This record gives sequence, structure tokens and C-alpha cells, in this order.
Amino acid sequence: MGKRVPFVCGNWKMHHGVEATRKQVRALVEGLPRLKGMVDLAIAPVATTLAAACEAARGSGLKIAAQNVHWAEKGAFTGEWSAAHLVELGVTHAICGHSERRALFGDDDITVPKRVRAAMDAGLVPIGCVGETLAQREAGKTEHVVATQTEAILEVIKPDEIDRLVLAYEPVWAIGTGKNATPTQAQEVHAQIRRLLAKRFGAKAELVRLQYGGSVKPDNAAELLREPDVDGALVGGAALEAASLLAIAEAGLQRA
Ligand code: 13P
Repeated sequence: MGKRVPFVCGNWKMHHGVEATRKQVRALVEGLPRLKGMVDLAIAPVATTLAAACEAARGSGLKIAAQNVHWAEKGAFTGEWSAAHLVELGVTHAICGHSERRALFGDDDITVPKRVRAAMDAGLVPIGCVGETLAQREAGKTEHVVATQTEAILEVIKPDEIDRLVLAYEPVWAIGTGKNATPTQAQEVHAQIRRLLAKRFGAKAELVRLQYGGSVKPDNAAELLREPDVDGALVGGAALEAASLLAIAEAGLQRA
């Protein structure tokens, strides 16, 4: 069974517009050789810039992800887009169930798995996000929350497609706070997720890449990515500048 290729994805949230997206994508493409083809790199730009991002990244190996995807193929869903719409642009990945979607836009353990399923059906790589709030951690509920959210996603995954799934553990208290989980805290939860995967999918659990997200920066990426089950990172603030995202991705070379 092959080793997991480290995977770093920059989540640009509601930041760069078209012009800035083109500029940053060009800089990422230029820096891509530094990763020697041994670390996968993606960005998830604002939806309105996806076409420009795909165009600027074409042929480079830089992957473009959407920050969300609806589960229906088409229909009366104002403000949403389907997996087919993403595929048409050249998008290859879709973040599903980011904590900001869960907290602010009503995503939950019913809708997130539907989004993951739609992404899978369209041939996209879903990046399913899970993670506890500070209150939940302090109440000793981390394991329970992560298990519930993870199981809801795994429920819709078939054994022959499990290798395409990516899961991101993003403790809500670490997002945008500058206070990352310690490598030990991250590994603890990642190991738990790996056990959940193994219970359902046996040895194939080893194929699933688990990203950590929450205040990942160039200066803490290496120690986080040194943990055996931290296969990559989902990066917010520190992903907005190409040089910083590339430095984080380079930390993945130690695993390659
Ligand atoms: P920060 O890296 O800004 O903490 O954001 C993490 C995140 O939410 C990535 O999806």
C-alpha cells in the first residue's frame, strides 16, 4: 500500500478577488517546482474567481478547490452551485462542511454528507471538515463531536472510493486565533479519525489523507506535519500569500 502524498490546501475564504487570485496563482505555479512533485498543493479561492484560478493554474499541477458544493445537480437553489458546475470549470476538489459553514450557514451532519456525496459522484475530491468548539473541548466532548461528524461523512462513502476522500480536522478554537493545536493534540484526534476509518474500511484507512487546520503557519507547519497521521494542512490566513503557502507546503517534503 503506497505512502500518503502530503496534501496542503489554502482556503482563501472570502478574500482575494479575481486580480489578486490571478497574481497569487501565478506565484504559486512559479514556486511549484520547489515541491518536486512530492506534495500536492491546492487553493480554494472565492467562488467568483474559480474560473480565473483554473485558467491561471491550467497544466501546472496546482489544484483548484471550491469552498462549498451543493448536493443537487441543478434546481431552484439561489446562491448555490453544483458539483457539475465545478467540474465544468476544471475544479477538482471541494471543501465540505467547513466550521464556518456549520456555524454561520446552517451546515450540519445531514447536509455535509450530502455535499460530500455529490462531490464524490462528480469525480471531485471532497475535503470533509470536522472539529470541536472551545466549549466542547473544555467539556471533554472532543472525541464525541469528532466521531459524530466523521461517522456522518463516512456513512456515505463506498469502500472503492475511500482513497479519494480527504478529511480535515479543524478545531474551531484554533481557526483564525493564532493559537494552533499542539502537534500532540492534532495527532491525538487524527489517530482517532484513523481508527474510525479502519473500523469501517480496514487497511484502506491508511490511504486517507488527514489534514490539520487552525492557525497553521510557516513556522509551525513542520512540527505539525511530523506527526504520523497529520498528512497535510488546510490553511487560512497564512495561505493568502503564495510565498507563505509554499513554505508551509515545503514542510510536507519531510514526509515524502
Ligand atoms: P486559519 O489558518 O486562518 O486559522 O484558518 C484555518 C481554516 O479555517 C482553514 O480552512
